[in-house]
Amino acid sequence: MTAERARITVFDTTLRDGEQSPGCSMNQQEKLRLAHQLDRLGVDVIEAGFPIASDGDFESVRAIASVVRRPIIAGLARACRPDIERAWEALQHAARPRIHVFLATSDIHLQYKLRITRDQCVEQAREAIRFAKSLCEDVEFSPEDATRTEPEFLCRVLDAVVEAGATTLNIPDTVGYTVPSEFGALITTIRQRVKGIENVVISAHCHNDLGMAVANALAAVSAGARQVECTINGIGERAGNASLEEIVMAMRVRPDRYPFETGVVGDQIFPSSQMLSEITGVPVQPNKAITGRNAFAHEAGIHQDGVLKNPLTYEIMTPQSVGVPDSKLVLGKHSGRHALSMRCEQLGYSFDRRALDDIYRRFVRLADKIKHVEDHHLLELIRDTHKPSGSATPLIEKIVPPQAAVVNAPASGLPPEPASEPVKPFPVAPHTNPFGAPLPVHGDAHHEQTQQEDYLWGV
Ligand code: KIV
Ligand code: ZN
Repeated sequence: MTAERARITVFDTTLRDGEQSPGCSMNQQEKLRLAHQLDRLGVDVIEAGFPIASDGDFESVRAIASVVRRPIIAGLARACRPDIERAWEALQHAARPRIHVFLATSDIHLQYKLRITRDQCVEQAREAIRFAKSLCEDVEFSPEDATRTEPEFLCRVLDAVVEAGATTLNIPDTVGYTVPSEFGALITTIRQRVKGIENVVISAHCHNDLGMAVANALAAVSAGARQVECTINGIGERAGNASLEEIVMAMRVRPDRYPFETGVVGDQIFPSSQMLSEITGVPVQPNKAITGRNAFAHEAGIHQDGVLKNPLTYEIMTPQSVGVPDSKLVLGKHSGRHALSMRCEQLGYSFDRRALDDIYRRFVRLADKIKHVEDHHLLELIRDTHKPSGSATPLIEKIVPPQAAVVNAPASGLPPEPASEPVKPFPVAPHTNPFGAPLPVHGDAHHEQTQQEDYLWGV
């Protein structure tokens, strides 16, 4: 029996904080397209923009609020009347509107940016929330730079805004300065000290300047936060925001450590990442966790062999669980015979042991010259077997067919005919370990969803 898991609200700010990252700005049509995808992804809140920032932002928030009806639609506002009025104007036709008000609270910001005292800060926050509350039931407050704010003062501001009607208290690590143990402790302090905290939702908004945004968000949730603010692919100001897909999958893959659930639809994660990248033209870092092109790619021979025998050897979640079409074995100079043979089979070619050895030798030499052996290289290499010697391309060595070679690819491109002996399906030799001892044979060389599910909760 599984224990009850607390439900975490996923607040997506790809269209607001994410859009603030260099090169990631989007027009109204693009924002609308992405908002529909975020809806399919199952996020609970879409922060659609900062309506006072520009007419374009205002129109985008208004358009999203009027057509995307399931999630809460939030609009950002500074703690002043014109911002809050403009945000409400854009949001008022939403099925579930939220006004998100922020005001910096750290001494550095008060002194150098806002030039106001602590007392003035408390009063401004209180007034702003009262005004927002007079327009909209759902009001979120963010004390900007909370992690560099003296905790005592932070709690004073939070007391005031809870009393004024805030329903969510978002704690931003605006400059990505905190570390997980400290951030978790701050959430605990807030839960212990702020009056009326039991009636509001605590949220975490983490930036990635030290590469700890996701770890900090998870620490906050472990300490009692029940909303996480995040973005697709972790885009956002400077080094970005906590990545939505990493937070969600950490909870799914490690429910023993993070016994929480979200409404995110796993197989919409990769399509969302791809759509964002396509719209902004900003590629996803290849080794990005969950959504990077190498996240499920295995190149080393030992890894490829293991994954083909049983994906659990090197994959902690299935590619399908996040919407990646299939695990991709990258064929390169570290690849082994097993992976080569599997790829050849996928391309319609079967070899016996000797023919495979021969193809493999040529493959390794080719892989030494080019980084990744793509399918078309492999096909060329296979077909080259029966070409007259002079016609081999400079890249690919001429293959002298071994006696028992079974490849005979017709020029038509149809699957090859057996040469003289019938094709023996791979593997033709028993599996042995490096010392020659037989290995257990797995019937399921493919992803077995049920087996994965036994191991990984609900992925
Ligand atoms: O990082 C930050 O402090 C923000 C606030 C506006 C929530 O983005
Ligand atoms: Zn931010």
